[in-house]
Amino acid sequence: SENEIVNVVFIDKSGKRTCIQGKIGDNLLYLAHRYEIPMEGACEASLACTTCHVYVQSNHFDNLPEATETEEDLLDMAPFLKENSRLGCQIILTKELDGLEVELPKATRNFYVDGHTPRPH
Ligand code: FES
Repeated sequence: SENEIVNVVFIDKSGKRTCIQGKIGDNLLYLAHRYEIPMEGACEASLACTTCHVYVQSNHFDNLPEATETEEDLLDMAPFLKENSRLGCQIILTKELDGLEVELPKATRNFYVDGHTPRPH
């Protein structure tokens, strides 16, 4: 139904905005891929990389469940970390997230396929 639609804006590293419509329960990473948004997901949402790093627009940041310790540890290793950084594959769309804007960082580092296992500290 109409109520299930969650509007999301992706802003790529060149500043280009793409507005797409997801649904409640969608994983942001897979939604992005469905619309060919250049969001990386080297570990396929298994919380073992930082390539899905995104910046979440501040007014929606607080609508997200808090990051788990594993996500926090991974984020600490992400290049260009900001206050509003999250791992995009851990974002599941809810009604509250309607109008969500996420920005892709200017670069990501993929230690996952490079064979370096991330370690919590
Ligand atoms: Fe690897 Fe999100 S795709 S942690």
